[in-house]
Amino acid sequence: MSLTPIGEPRHKITSATLHEKKRQHEPITCLTAYDYAMARLVDEAGIDMILVGDSLAMTMLGYENTLSVTVDEMLHHTRAARRGVKNALLVADMPYGSYHVDAGEAVRNAARFVKEGGAEVVKVEGGEKRAEMIRRIIDAEIPVAGHIGLTPQSIHMMGGYKVQGKTLSAIEQLMRDAQALHRAGVACIFLEGIPREVAAMITAEVETPTIGIGAGPDCDGQVLVIHDILNMTFGPAAKFVRRYGDAAAMITNAVLEFKADIGSRQFPADAESYHLPKETQAALATVLQRKRALRR
Ligand code: KIV
Repeated sequence: MSLTPIGEPRHKITSATLHEKKRQHEPITCLTAYDYAMARLVDEAGIDMILVGDSLAMTMLGYENTLSVTVDEMLHHTRAARRGVKNALLVADMPYGSYHVDAGEAVRNAARFVKEGGAEVVKVEGGEKRAEMIRRIIDAEIPVAGHIGLTPQSIHMMGGYKVQGKTLSAIEQLMRDAQALHRAGVACIFLEGIPREVAAMITAEVETPTIGIGAGPDCDGQVLVIHDILNMTFGPAAKFVRRYGDAAAMITNAVLEFKADIGSRQFPADAESYHLPKETQAALATVLQRKRALRR
């Protein structure tokens, strides 16, 4: 057990905690984090789940979308986040292509996230059509999180980042997807970019906890990308993003002040410098004096 900054005792969060929170109508909190420092801060703030999302392709690596990030790149960040996390449930995204060919390869890649990355849950995108592969991963003792609605790895099939589930047939498909994921035994279902009414219906009808992003307030939990809430994304925010801080402004101001202090020779100050011990200073002064005398 450890303490949050406000002093509440904290316990290790597991998949069972998520289900218990759903039963007790207690909101589940989730944020992305992709490295040691950020994961540690998020964990110590008492967030329930930390997602090493493939959104790191854009936020950390500067790719245009999530499609090009590799298993090795995801593992590198998962390992770093792992070192910062004590209590939160650590979820890692399986990137595009790592579970799309066959179930055997999907299980092998999922196992790498557990063995090499220290992930406790792997997240895969897709519903009904991924259910059998998800079952195979769970059979290998690896908990899985589902992700349906606006699934960014399907951007080319969806024709862009578009809100999903807007017609009756799309709503029915989403419900079938959520039920298939529930039957497969996922730990939770991420609902992204769907109308509030549809997310509310899935959350009410499916026993598995739902975690929403752009899916309205009625999900069992909420997730956002940490770079979005800190204004670190260099572009306009999506409708569902709420900014809780301005890290971009804070970093820029700190860097500008540092640069100005060097320019005006105010950094480093004497107090920020190392000094010789008094005796060595005296000995050095004598040596320098003798050298000067010899040169005369
Ligand atoms: O990669 C990610 O950050 C995600 C969340 C947006 C759910 O999948």
